[in-house]
Amino acid sequence: MDSLSQLASFVLSHIPGLITLLIILGIGILYVQDRSQVDQTIRRNYPVIGRFRYFFEDLGVFFRQYFFALDREEMPFNRADRSWAYRAAKRESTLQAFGSTRVQHEGDVVFANAVIPFTGESSNTPLTFGPECRAPYTTDRRFHISGMSYGAISKPAVTALALGAKQAGIWINTGEGGASDAHLESGADLVCQIGTAKFGVRTADGHLDPEKLKSLAARESVKMFEIKISQGAKPGKGGILPADKVTPEIAAQRGIPVGEASISPPGHEEINSASDLFDFIHQVRELTGKPTGFKICIGNMDDFRAVLEVLVVAAQKASESVAADQSKQVFEAYLADYAPDFITLDSGNGGTGAAPMSLIDAAGMNIQESLPSVVNLLTSMGLRERIRVVASGKLITPVDVAWALCAGADCVTSARGFMFSLGCIQALQCHQNTCPTGITTHNNKLQRGLDAKVKSNRVANYANEMHAELDTIAHSCGAANASMLNRSHAMIYVGNQRAVSMTQVYAGDLTHEK
Ligand SMILES: Cc1cc2nc3c(=O)[nH]c(=O)nc-3n(C[C@H](O)[C@H](O)[C@H](O)COP(=O)(O)O)c2cc1C
Repeated sequence: MDSLSQLASFVLSHIPGLITLLIILGIGILYVQDRSQVDQTIRRNYPVIGRFRYFFEDLGVFFRQYFFALDREEMPFNRADRSWAYRAAKRESTLQAFGSTRVQHEGDVVFANAVIPFTGESSNTPLTFGPECRAPYTTDRRFHISGMSYGAISKPAVTALALGAKQAGIWINTGEGGASDAHLESGADLVCQIGTAKFGVRTADGHLDPEKLKSLAARESVKMFEIKISQGAKPGKGGILPADKVTPEIAAQRGIPVGEASISPPGHEEINSASDLFDFIHQVRELTGKPTGFKICIGNMDDFRAVLEVLVVAAQKASESVAADQSKQVFEAYLADYAPDFITLDSGNGGTGAAPMSLIDAAGMNIQESLPSVVNLLTSMGLRERIRVVASGKLITPVDVAWALCAGADCVTSARGFMFSLGCIQALQCHQNTCPTGITTHNNKLQRGLDAKVKSNRVANYANEMHAELDTIAHSCGAANASMLNRSHAMIYVGNQRAVSMTQVYAGDLTHEK
């Protein structure tokens, strides 16, 4: 045997011993590191073994949902609701067997099925936004894609959402990152959001650029503009895109430096009062010729009433300055000029790519409370016919969406419902650039798993299944289609055993109940 093969056999016979030695050495190094560091108490007190705590904490987020959480327990979205979205997106059966697992709580909805259900064929009534604009927008769909900025979500995710929107005939809101090529090339109906940093329509120093706005509006696929006042997950705080996610491409899209966190101001520099808001709506609508509304999460109904009163009082003043026979016309013309064409009402429990926990957890009214109140308020002020109401916030199943349509929403939008259709597993890592499903990360390796073509079909399937099941609910209630749903078609639990007509509950009038 030559010396080389002797050495080889020596090494081979000692491999197990060597490995053991290396492991002991490694543990020893970790032990010394843990004992000597002062940042983490657990590691200092329980060297080496204490490290598993952090490992399990990370894994817990993934595995809780599979092994431990019950069907209706998990947050923010439970497994039962997510499964509906996953199955609808894959066109798998959404039927259930044996019976309901849903426990009724106060405030929950049950639909008021009719003695004789509707059995004919019927499609939604077309809905027009901004009928007096130079270019009004009409849709017969009731469930659309809520704003998620290109930046918060990845390019393949935007591409899949936009192509899916085109396929299903629904709109996609660009979110505050502006309309990217993926949005514009898809041919989908776009609602372009104007965030407080004016990404996509801003001058080099961050102001609104009227020329950029006009040239964006000139595109046929751009249907409406939404001024972002606030978002439910972080009202009072502007958009936040962590530095890790500001890649050269995102930076170019937004006109900001690469690798620096993108923090939008909390408010628009143009809007410091209620009348500024209506002036800004007027300005955007004049420049674009397209329906213009605003997105808001309401914190307090009295504040919101005061804002709308400014509009109504100004319209009244204008109408008083002309002869009595023209006053109604002038009143209406004033509203056509200054009132929003729609209000997107977002829920305090809405989603986000990144936000402070205190605002996520405990700021802003939830949609269950704000939607009925806003619809009542608009009706009482005579504004309901003019201003469309779009509702969002954890409305991802047909029951949620039909509730909102019954309560008075004209349309519903969802962000996270559509993320589930893309395969989101609720890993809660949108702010870390490590999303395991490629949706909220710009890491190419993680994006590879997200095939935009396949997922665009899922986005369209989810929207189509949603519309089909909304019609199923409507038919059960004796209504011809989802656009006919109103408060008479639903009951609300006012205790955990007793349901009262939504008409009475939301009017705040329980005196007629039996
Ligand atoms: C990843 C992500 C990014 C978002 N980006 C924006 C945005 O740019 N502008 C905005 O107004 N809202 C944004 N939102 C909020 C959604 O548009 C929506 O209002 C909220 O999530 C409620 O809908 P949902 O419960 O169906 O997700 C974002 C939400 C998520 C989850």
